Amino acid sequence: MRHTCRFSRRSAGEFLQRYWQKSPRLLRLAFPGILPAITPEELAGLACETGVESRLIIKTGGQPGWNVRHGPFKTADFSKLPEKNWTLLVQDTDKHVPELADFLGHFDFIPRWRVDDLMISYAVDGGTVGPHVDAYDVFLLQVLGQRRWRITRKHLPPLIKPGLQLDLVGDFKPQHDWLLSPGDMLYLPPGTAHHGTAVGECMTFSIGMRAPTDAEMLADLSTRLLARLDKHARYTDPDLSPAISDTSRLNTKTLAAIRKRMCSALRMRADELDEWFGCFITEPKSWLIPRPARRRLTPAVLAAKLKHHKKIARSPAASLLWSVAGTRHIRLFVNGRCHLLPAGMAEFARLLGNRRMYTATMLAPWLRKPHAAKLLAELHNEGLLYFP
Ligand code: SIN
Ligand code: CO
Repeated sequence: MRHTCRFSRRSAGEFLQRYWQKSPRLLRLAFPGILPAITPEELAGLACETGVESRLIIKTGGQPGWNVRHGPFKTADFSKLPEKNWTLLVQDTDKHVPELADFLGHFDFIPRWRVDDLMISYAVDGGTVGPHVDAYDVFLLQVLGQRRWRITRKHLPPLIKPGLQLDLVGDFKPQHDWLLSPGDMLYLPPGTAHHGTAVGECMTFSIGMRAPTDAEMLADLSTRLLARLDKHARYTDPDLSPAISDTSRLNTKTLAAIRKRMCSALRMRADELDEWFGCFITEPKSWLIPRPARRRLTPAVLAAKLKHHKKIARSPAASLLWSVAGTRHIRLFVNGRCHLLPAGMAEFARLLGNRRMYTATMLAPWLRKPHAAKLLAELHNEGLLYFP
């Protein structure tokens, strides 16, 4: 993709301070001269693949007014579409197309774990997904043609219509009405009602953020708590006293004993919680897990192959984060797994996490260290690193 983004370190700081999670912001020509790394035909091709989440949304004249279909599609599905009023949306395109994963690098001023995916929509004239609210921050970047965005910060009621397969809002009266052309970008904080309509053929990139709900996190955390619990440990009361006339009462001693047991089952040290969060947040959706490498390599063979190929790449579907763990270790999280490494390997983790392509020269010092060489071979064998 040939373009530059206008976000400098200073303007990113200003943007975060003034608008991030606070107020919508229209950035005219944020990406001047943008040329998307994917054509509408390639996007349609992606929507025909298994393991790719996609939807076709057609605005119809009848009731409930919308027709929603889910992919994977067949090429023939696209030839039967009306001339106007439809949109194709493809989720997680950055996990499937390396160039699109690289494009997300323009948003590196936001910590990587907060960036969820790059969804791409292609629409013909009049195409729209209706007025709605997203629960997360989103950057809507116009990459081809024009789209009219109408937005309001007012809290709106959900639109209730029998058979409606979309979460839309009712009573939509825009506070702003903007026409976006290629390179223009609109930032919306969570909860902003928005209604986009294609003006002629157009393509829009939605860079969606991730902010897990407490319920989501607690559900995942509880499976981890359950896994470490002794399944046979149960309530005991060898010191039971006769209940006599109070047999229906949950007495104070019993309730205190239950509280104590449950508090101890829920207790987690700070380092255990930190480890859980890294695993939780890097866990990929089941359909996005990369396939293991066809040929497993030992660290020595990987080093030799790297000398020959000159570079190795990280799969766009690999989610990689790291954190400091005390003074002696770091944790490297890769697709839901935690690797505890010596603190001296922070530079290695930074290199792996901040880039997607690694040259033989970059990795040479690390391949001499057994810990790092073993890890690189493991990541290759799991399909998370590949020779491009
Ligand atoms: C679209 O691109 O048509 C919809 C994107 C959104 O509203 O989040
Ligand atoms: Co939206």
